[in-house]
Amino acid sequence: MPRPRAHPASALERAGPFPSATPGAQGAERSAVNAPLVYITGASSGIGQALALRFRHAGWRLALVARRGSELQAWADAQGFGVDAARVYAADVRDVAAIVAAGHDCVARQGLPDAVVANAGISVGIDTADFTDLEVMRATFETNNLGMAATFHPFVAGMRQRGSGRLVGIASVAGIRGLPGHGAYSASKAAAISYCETLRVECAASGVKVVTLVPGYIDTPLTRGNPYSMPFLMPAQTFADRAFEAIVAGTSYRVIPWQMGLLAKLLRLLPNALYDRAVAGRGRKPRQHR
Ligand SMILES: NC(=O)c1ccc[n+]([C@@H]2O[C@H](COP(=O)([O-])OP(=O)(O)OC[C@H]3O[C@@H](n4cnc5c(N)ncnc54)[C@H](OP(=O)(O)O)[C@@H]3O)[C@@H](O)[C@H]2O)c1
Repeated sequence: MPRPRAHPASALERAGPFPSATPGAQGAERSAVNAPLVYITGASSGIGQALALRFRHAGWRLALVARRGSELQAWADAQGFGVDAARVYAADVRDVAAIVAAGHDCVARQGLPDAVVANAGISVGIDTADFTDLEVMRATFETNNLGMAATFHPFVAGMRQRGSGRLVGIASVAGIRGLPGHGAYSASKAAAISYCETLRVECAASGVKVVTLVPGYIDTPLTRGNPYSMPFLMPAQTFADRAFEAIVAGTSYRVIPWQMGLLAKLLRLLPNALYDRAVAGRGRKPRQHR
C-alpha cells in the first residue's frame, strides 16, 4: 500500500529521479513552478555562493540565506535572478528562532525544498589558554552545529511525510583529525559528521537522504588567510560541481577533492605518535576573531 502523503509530490518526484547534472541542460526549459527548490545557508560567500550558481545553472529555484541579506540580494539581482528564480532570507543561524522562522517563511513562499544545504560556518583559531577564546568556541559550536540542526529543523517533518528530499551537511576534513589551532573548528566538524550520520540513519526509512559533504581546502575567504600549505586547494566552483553531483545522487558521505579523502583516510589510520610528529611543526590556524 503506498503511504498517504500530506505534502504534494516534490518537483523531483514529478520529474522522476533528481534532475540532470548537465549544466544548463534543463534550466532553460523547466518552468519556474516545476523547478526543484534548494535552500542554502551561507550563500553570501564562498562555497554557498558557488553552490547557488551551480544549482541555478541546472534549473533549480533558490532559497538563499545569510546574515548579509542585502548584499546577498544585490548579488542575486546582479546574476539576473528574478523573484521566481531566487528569494533571499536574512537570518543568523546562531539565532534559532530567526533561522527556524526563515525556514517556515521559505515553505510558505516557495514550498517545501527538495534539498537543504546547511553550509553556513566559521573557522577561527583558538588557544585554550586564552579566556576570550572560550567565547570563540561557543560561537563556533553555535554556528557550525546548533546552526546546522536549526537549519534542518523546519524541513525534516515535511520531507519525511513527503518521503523525499536531501538534507546536506557541510563538514570538513578538519573534523577527521585534530589540527593545531583548530580546537574549536575540528571539534565542531567532527560533531557535524557524527550528527549527520545520526540523522541519516534516522531518516533512512523515510526516503529522505542525508548527505555529508567533507571539503578539503577550497579557495574561499575562509581559507585565504591561512599561513600554511593547503594541499589539493580547489576552486569553489569546481567543488560546487562535485558537490552538486553528490547531492543529486544522494551520496551518504563524500570528501571533495577525492585526493584529500585518501589522505584523510591514511591520517586516520596513523598511530597517534606518528600523527603528532607529522602535524607538530604545522602552522596554527590564526586567532583572527570574526
Ligand atoms: N573553504 C574551505 O576550505 C572549507 C573547508 C572545509 C569546510 N568548509 C566549510 O564550508 C562552509 C562554507 O565555508 P566557506 O569557505 O564558503 O566560507 P566563507 O566564504 O567565509 O562563507 C561563510 C558563509 O557562512 C555565512 N555565515 C557565517 N556565519 C553565519 C551565521 N551565524 N548565520 C548565517 N550565515 C552565516 C556567511 O554569510 P554572512 O556573513 O553573510 O552571514 C557566508 O556566506 C563552512 O561550513 C566551512 O566550515 C570550508
